[in-house]
Amino acid sequence: MQIHGSTALVTGANRGLGAQLAITLLDAGAATVYAAARDTDTLRPLVQAGGGRVVPVTLDVTDPASVRAAAAEVVDLDLLVNNAGSATFGDPLGADLAGARSDLEVNYLALLHTTRAFLPTLEAAATAGRAAAILNIVSVIALAPAPHTTVYAASKAAAHSLTQSLRATLAPRGIVVHGAYPGGIDTDMSAGMNAVKADARVVAERIVAALAADTTEIYPDDASAALAAIYHADPRQLERTLAG
Ligand SMILES: NC(=O)c1ccc[n+]([C@@H]2O[C@H](COP(=O)([O-])OP(=O)(O)OC[C@H]3O[C@@H](n4cnc5c(N)ncnc54)[C@H](OP(=O)(O)O)[C@@H]3O)[C@@H](O)[C@H]2O)c1
Repeated sequence: MQIHGSTALVTGANRGLGAQLAITLLDAGAATVYAAARDTDTLRPLVQAGGGRVVPVTLDVTDPASVRAAAAEVVDLDLLVNNAGSATFGDPLGADLAGARSDLEVNYLALLHTTRAFLPTLEAAATAGRAAAILNIVSVIALAPAPHTTVYAASKAAAHSLTQSLRATLAPRGIVVHGAYPGGIDTDMSAGMNAVKADARVVAERIVAALAADTTEIYPDDASAALAAIYHADPRQLERTLAG
């Protein structure tokens, strides 16, 4: 899709990958970026950097009233970026159940609800002949779980499946659905993780470049690209590789 001149909304835009995606979209010429966050005070640096092109929006993706209010506020939208995420770590027997529920709420159910809420605005863009798209930030461990990512990986596997079904459902309506499947990224989420971590700015730049190139399945860092190659050759081999 053409990023230049487009209008995008990024959930969880106040920090981590979401903030970098918002900045990269602005750098690529987006006309407006709706920066969504639970606490809009945390968006101040992004709003300042945006030179009038960043519109803060209050959005808790797990709160139906908040999602409704945000969708009512956004009157024009070409690209919805479902980035907000939650990660609970632990093995399948020990991972915290409340955390597992939270991961499913944020990473899967909220993605479903938020997408439905913004769909009429995206459809209006498509009907007007503009490129309309959804970008879901998934994770490469949606394809097979790594040790200690059990419940998070399961929620991302659900997000992956939803991305696939949305792609099929929305294609006839002129809306392209992209999934990004990063490996480890150096953000607050992975702070306690002993793994290779890509720079969030580089990951965001590769994701936006892939969007511009109409790539629907995006592996934006070297680790995820290598794991995807294993998966596409033999899915069971990825399961064995990550389990090890
Ligand atoms: N870091 C990694 O290694 C990695 C790898 C693959 C995929 N990802 C995915 O990349 C995306 C961004 O993650 P990140 O690494 O940037 O994590 P992060 O630094 O922990 O940021 C998470 C973002 O999600 C927001 N968020 C969480 N719950 C929310 C809710 N209920 N409503 C609205 N916003 C909410 C947070 O807002 P608050 O500031 O209000 O908490 C924050 O902006 C996530 O989907 C994550 O699963 C991350």
